[in-house]
Order: sequence, then structure tokens, then C-alpha cells
Amino acid sequence: MESQVNPTQEIPQSEVTDQLMEWFYRIGALRAALDLQLWGRITAGEDTAKKMADQEGWDPTGTRVLLDAICALKLLSKEDDRYSLVPESACYLLPGKPTYKGGLLQNEFNWEGNGKLAQAIRSGKRPVHYDATTADVVNIWIADYSRRWVYPESYFDTDDELWRSLEIQARDGLRVLDIACGPAPRSLALRRMHPGVRLTWVDWDEILHTALETAARVGIVSQISLLTGDLWSVDFGSNDFDVAYLGNVTHFFSPEENTRLFRKVYNALAPGAVIVVNSAARREMEEAGWVDLWLYAVTASGGAYSFNEYKKMLESAGFKDVEDVNSQPIKGFKP
Ligand SMILES: C[S@@+](CC[C@H](N)C(=O)[O-])C[C@H]1O[C@@H](n2cnc3c(N)ncnc32)[C@H](O)[C@@H]1O
Repeated sequence: MESQVNPTQEIPQSEVTDQLMEWFYRIGALRAALDLQLWGRITAGEDTAKKMADQEGWDPTGTRVLLDAICALKLLSKEDDRYSLVPESACYLLPGKPTYKGGLLQNEFNWEGNGKLAQAIRSGKRPVHYDATTADVVNIWIADYSRRWVYPESYFDTDDELWRSLEIQARDGLRVLDIACGPAPRSLALRRMHPGVRLTWVDWDEILHTALETAARVGIVSQISLLTGDLWSVDFGSNDFDVAYLGNVTHFFSPEENTRLFRKVYNALAPGAVIVVNSAARREMEEAGWVDLWLYAVTASGGAYSFNEYKKMLESAGFKDVEDVNSQPIKGFKP
């Protein structure tokens, strides 16, 4: 008797797994290309596979297939047998450029400690490989934000829009505390809008140093105070600020830690002041799944939280009228 089962209906396509397998190959190619510093060598004149293989004493076939694979990744282009950089590789993959991201990519290949994630999940022991909340990883932030440090102007519109959507206006004497500020683009936006705005930045020494250079690049050299070091130990003062901004840092901590941090911020704020919590890693977001996993690996207790979870943390710390603005920044008031 003939089978009633139509195999094409019963057996799903292996589309997702096939795509993932392709990503393994892409990652392998990128890894080898970074290791061999292909982009720097092309810039130095080794712009054909033959020249590069001859000059470096490498295998000619391997050199050519790797260069071609990097073209397929759109990080090189090829005309006849000559390779050249594309704008993205010229900006981010040439060692020595202030925007260089090769080191960051090499670090992130190993974000889960080269296969240690499963073991961490079995044991619950985290972070897996590095801890994103320590001073040890400042180089990650410096590389990750390279475009912001070097071309801060390209973000002015989105930075300004944040304060418009929050209905917070820059004014003379406005005191802003930017916690874990990184390049501090958002608080700098307020300072750009009004020269009388006073900024206080909290972050590690090297980050603050780089942020000051960025501020100077856009002409801001005054009204910036620094609180250098671990945000858990530096003193934010009391009743000293009108706005506190926490951008992309609260996802590194547990709900209990965030509540503790929000209490510390509450004390630092004057009555009627506002707290803004802005985390790109929000549980409601489409890509939250893998971002949450990354946070699991690179922090001891962080995660992607929903608006309601943040609301609970903020209210436990004393904040009122907690509101989700355009499903992104969260705003609350100190009564
Ligand atoms: C993802 S970046 C966010 C930068 C900026 N707020 C933004 O939204 O663009 C995280 C920042 O938090 C800082 N950070 C993380 N843990 C910290 C800690 N324990 N003390 C001080 N700064 C910390 C890092 O140095 C880094 O600049």
C-alpha cells in the first residue's frame, strides 16, 4: 500500500539551522581575517592575493579564498584581482584608527568563554567570561562607542529628540547627574541646548577622560564635574540634582541592585526632580531573547527588564508617576 504521508509536508525546511551554520562560516572567516590583519595589509599595498601571499609567505590558495570570503561579507571589494577596502572596513577595521573595532570583535568572539555558557547555566555561576560592570572592560566601551567619540555630531538629532520626547527642557542652572555616562551624549545634548546647564558625570577614569575629549570636540569645556570610579561607591550627594540619567546600565544589575541604585539616586535628587532610565535591553523588545542571554553571560545578575519591572523598582525606591515614554525611556519623579 502507498504511504499516505507526504514527506514535504511532514518534514520542515532546515532554514534557520542552515542559516546559523552559514554564520559559523562567516564568523570563522572574520576571525581569520582579523587575526591576519588583512585590511591593514591591503592598505600597505598587498592588494592582490598573490602579493599578500608572497610578501607574508602564506599559502596562496588560502589567502585568496579568505580574501574572497571577506568580499562576500561586504568588508572588502574586488576588481579583477585587486582588493580594496569599503568605507565600513576603512573606518572600523584598520588598526590605529580611533574608530577601530577589530579588538572589540576579537573580544566578543569569546563573549561566552568559548563554549562555557552551557556549564554556567548548569551551575548558575556567572559572569561567564568577563564582567561588564568592572573597570577591566573600559576598552570594550571605548571601542564600542568609537563612532560616538569621534563623530558626536552624527547623533545630535537623536540625542536632542530624547529630551523633547521626555518634555525636559534645558535651562540656566539645571543640574544633571549622568550615571555610567560613557560618552555622555544625552547629558551633553542638554548642555548644548543651554550653556547654563551643569553636568556631573559618573564612570571609570578612562571613560571620563575620553568623554571630556569628546565634549571638547563639540566645544564644551566648562560646567562638567566628574565623579570618578565605581557607581556603587562614589558619593552622589543629597538634594543636589534636578535630572538623573541612567542610560544602558541598569540592565547590568539585578532588580534588587537597581532598587538600591535608584534609592541612592533618589537621595541625590532635589524634590520635584526627575529620573530617566533608558535601557536598550528591554524585555518587550523583539531581540530581547538573545540580549538577555548576553547579559546573563557578561554580568553577575543583570537582565532585560520590562517597563512594569522597572516601575516596581523605581516605586520601591520612592519615585512617583513612573511613565514609559514612547516605549523606551522611563521617567519618574521625586515628590
Ligand atoms: C553600555 S555603556 C552606556 C553608556 C551611556 N550611558 C549610554 O547610554 O550611551 C555602560 C557604561 O556603564 C559604565 N559602568 C558599568 N559599570 C559601572 C560601574 N560599576 N561604575 C561606573 N561605571 C560603570 C561603563 O564604564 C560604561 O561606560
